Amino acid sequence: MTYETLLVEQRGRVTLVTLNRPQALNALNSQILADLLAAMAAFDADPSQGCAVITGSEKAFAAGADIKEMQAQGFADMYAHDFFAGWDRFTRTRKPVIAAVSGYALGGGCELAMMCDFILAADSAKFGQPEVKLAVSPGMGGSQRLTRAVGKAKAMEMCLTGRMMDAAEAERAGLVSRVVPAAELVEEAVKTATTIAGMAPLAVLANKEMVNAAFETSLAMGVQFERRLFHALFGTEDQSEGMSAFVEKRAGTWTGK
Ligand code: HXC
Repeated sequence: MTYETLLVEQRGRVTLVTLNRPQALNALNSQILADLLAAMAAFDADPSQGCAVITGSEKAFAAGADIKEMQAQGFADMYAHDFFAGWDRFTRTRKPVIAAVSGYALGGGCELAMMCDFILAADSAKFGQPEVKLAVSPGMGGSQRLTRAVGKAKAMEMCLTGRMMDAAEAERAGLVSRVVPAAELVEEAVKTATTIAGMAPLAVLANKEMVNAAFETSLAMGVQFERRLFHALFGTEDQSEGMSAFVEKRAGTWTGK
């Protein structure tokens, strides 16, 4: 499958998706959204694939939603078409997705990175929600996900001033899981994704689902949800194999059942 705005390749069990609109620093227009949704649907449906990595160029992961596409729109168009609502579908990808961010992740670019399950950053990465400078605001979840990731003080300052956070600050603030040298970013992300894709598939889905539940529920309900999924994993062949393999001091082999 080929896409107008993405390069997609499979590296073993890892789907590597590269945003590819270099002329606009990967600004997220409706074509990128349509392509990404199609690529994620294909990834989710393909049992040979266990984890995805989304990356951009060295200069820009994505410099925002496409300002030129939004410029002429009015409230009626935005509201009637529920502009940006398609991005919610991206977050319903069931298998893990890692954002590998180099360079600018601004506005919608930062929001897309935060929609992924975690962010691996190059030392060149710069995160920001500069929409206020355009007299608008985040519209793809940035005010909510950034606040949950880094807390109110930093999120509020970033949304109100539009200032960028570099990779070191983003790591200190908990926005990214790790920072690696820019030249090693994609290789490191694919390596991490390969580790995840080598785990028992149902356990991976359950782990993702329960961590995400932490953002939607009370602690008691979240713990209950975790426990029930944990119990459910004891109904899988892979649980029996995983524990037997440990006891027998060998590597497990998974059926995904
Ligand atoms: C459309 C964009 C773009 C964007 C860059 N480009 N960002 N086009 N939408 N978000 C285009 C430029 O117009 C230019 O095209 C080309 O990409 C290269 O960009 P330059 O500005 O020339 O590069 P540089 O000088 O290196 O500056 C890089 C930059 C700057 C600092 C990242 O491009 C920038 O500030 N971009 C906008 C960042 C931003 O405000 N993002 C938030 C968008 S709003 P031409 O054709 O001129 O060469 C958003 C959420 C919206 O994401 C939610 C509200 C509804």
